Amino acid sequence: MKEEILELEKRALGEIGSTLDPSELETLRIRYLGKKGLLTSMMKKVGCLPPDERPGVGKLANLVKKNLSARFKETRDSLGSGRVDVGTTFDVTLPGREPVYGHLHPITLVIKEVCGIFTRMGFRVVKGPNVELDYYNFEALNIPRDHPARDMQDTFYISENVVLRTHTSPIQVRVMETRKPPVSVIAPGKVYRRDSDVSHTPMFHQVEGLLVDRGVSFGDLKGTLTSFVRQMFGSRTRLRFRPSFFPFTEPSAEVDILCVLCGGKGCRTCSQTGWLEILGSGMVDPEVYRFVDYDADKYTGFAFGMGIERIAMLKYGIDDIQLFFRNDIRFLRQF
Ligand code: FA5
Ligand code: MG
Repeated sequence: MKEEILELEKRALGEIGSTLDPSELETLRIRYLGKKGLLTSMMKKVGCLPPDERPGVGKLANLVKKNLSARFKETRDSLGSGRVDVGTTFDVTLPGREPVYGHLHPITLVIKEVCGIFTRMGFRVVKGPNVELDYYNFEALNIPRDHPARDMQDTFYISENVVLRTHTSPIQVRVMETRKPPVSVIAPGKVYRRDSDVSHTPMFHQVEGLLVDRGVSFGDLKGTLTSFVRQMFGSRTRLRFRPSFFPFTEPSAEVDILCVLCGGKGCRTCSQTGWLEILGSGMVDPEVYRFVDYDADKYTGFAFGMGIERIAMLKYGIDDIQLFFRNDIRFLRQF
């Protein structure tokens, strides 16, 4: 009988432990310790045992009863009374609390939107490494060592031949190395420069574009980018192509958009010029084709690289690029 009592105790403790609800616990208590409970009925049988067994079994049964009672009380206290006085504790007509949903970072949203516009025009999305060989970031883009054009971008060097990419343009070279024309790709990603003020951060995002085929002209470049700007900012957006220089494109142009923050009057975001540069572009320089074995007599193409933070600032009317990276939840919640 001792074993039976111990077995019962084990079972009861297990069931108490897995109870989460006070009324369930009370039912359990009655089942074991109530007047007709399992332990109670067992204790009643002690009297029928041979006299020499009675004291031992009786003592054990009492001990188990004490144990279980204590455990029931403890568990009841930790679960709380479980009863709520509806009249005074809360107003049942109040609306429930709305769950707070997470959402994408504004930069991610803009990257998605940019890639969406270009994939609908037939471009394919590709990626490249953030830690890049000097060869792809500079050399194969017609920026030889010791060339003054390297100063256009202040570079984080990892070692003599390895850099944090300063732009997404190395992806152009990686794509042309592995694919023959026609190619049309778009490549979003992080880039790194030693740069920091209201319109510059040491890490920012670019989206690169490249299209190479027979008979591609500067007109195609202009049309593609104009269409992009109109889809991104609205059909009445004012933009201008301004002659520029990049070692890997010839001719080159930068695209500016009328500063939406000041309407062109001049403010700190546009450095009082009324315009904000959003991208660099141009016709792929035949020098670059030599590095990737493309026939420059057969093929022409255009490339562009845009700053995502700039585009996000214009789109959402934000005057400080640092806001994107401060992770202030009050700022991020607005998107
Ligand atoms: C380039 O990076 C060239 N690779 C673009 C290019 C690609 C030209 C293909 C021709 C063909 P640039 O350094 O101007 O160019 O940067 C491109 C864009 O990135 C700028 O127009 C600007 O919008 C953004 N940008 C540049 N520096 C920063 C910075 N520190 N913080 C935020 N945005 C920046
Ligand atoms: Mg520039």
